[in-house]
Amino acid sequence: MVKKKLKICVLFGGKSAEHEVSIESAQNVIKALDPNKYQITPIKISHDGVFDINKIKQCDVVFPVLHGPFGEDGSMQGLFKIIGVPFVGPSVLGSAVSMDKDVMKRLLHEAGIPIAKYLTFRKGDKISYTKIAKTLGKIVFIKPANLGSSVGIHKARNEKEFTAGVKDAFLYDTKIVIEENIIGREIECSVLGNENPVAAIPGEIIPNADFYSYDSKYIDSESIAQIPAIIPKNTINKIKVMAVKVFKVLECEGMGRVDFFLKKNGDILVIELNTIPGFTAISMYPKMWEASGLPLPKLLDNLIQFAIERYNRENKLKVTVK
Ligand SMILES: Nc1ncnc2c1ncn2[C@@H]1O[C@H](COP(=O)(O)OP(=O)(O)O)[C@@H](O)[C@H]1O
Ligand SMILES: [Mg+2]
Repeated sequence: MVKKKLKICVLFGGKSAEHEVSIESAQNVIKALDPNKYQITPIKISHDGVFDINKIKQCDVVFPVLHGPFGEDGSMQGLFKIIGVPFVGPSVLGSAVSMDKDVMKRLLHEAGIPIAKYLTFRKGDKISYTKIAKTLGKIVFIKPANLGSSVGIHKARNEKEFTAGVKDAFLYDTKIVIEENIIGREIECSVLGNENPVAAIPGEIIPNADFYSYDSKYIDSESIAQIPAIIPKNTINKIKVMAVKVFKVLECEGMGRVDFFLKKNGDILVIELNTIPGFTAISMYPKMWEASGLPLPKLLDNLIQFAIERYNRENKLKVTVK
């Protein structure tokens, strides 16, 4: 008997600064999905957020290859849950808390996971550079709380840059975080799984600019990816253990890429967790799995199975009182 192929919807594009990156990632995912196992329906979301929801209803599993708010922040995941279709990657809660840099940091701090010193401000708050510089140092990073791809992120070295950076960050969100400037190497680690997640071999990003800005990520992307990261074995182990812990603390399932700073003195700080990491030909998440012995087609098989496993598990839960 011929086994029925699973119908996979690959969702990409979207209302996001990372629209084009998402298209590139989706093309790579579609190319790597085994045609003997899957029947693939690509669905493009337009720049203004329009797409055919009915097509999603007809598929067995949806693979959102979307980045930033509207795709990665739990709202899309909520839609999948309401429709009743299994989906790849973290669910509503994990997506939402990982997207919000302020909530994410509060949860990590509570779990004893080391992070950069930071302060959170909302629109209308009094924000004094002099006061902040006393706590965080003169050089700070200003970030919109809910965004990605370094959009709206500023490194401020003085009051003038600070004022301009805060103003710009508030264009993207009503809440911002301001962090101390960390000097260290940027190490990333891929995590995969539901209840028993595992970490891949970490990699290192060496930005071609002062920091890993939007331009250095996508415009003049001369940044270097070093996989595996050339770091001591015990540091690799520490990072892998911490990546899994971060993944669990942030209520993630399926996949997540945890980004770190490794300081000269050996200290490891968590920067963030990305719930839908890039899947382009040069993206770190799949490359780190490849280096760990899991090539992209097999990684995608796993992600789809984890989506189905979660869906079945959640479906078994009692929804009546008796
Ligand atoms: N506290 C910090 N100190 C030094 N560099 C930072 C700090 N925070 C962020 N960066 C730089 O900015 C980049 C983007 O920050 P990140 O928090 O990862 O935002 P995004 O979610 O937009 O990727 C990082 O990859 C790093 O190069
Ligand atoms: Mg980042």
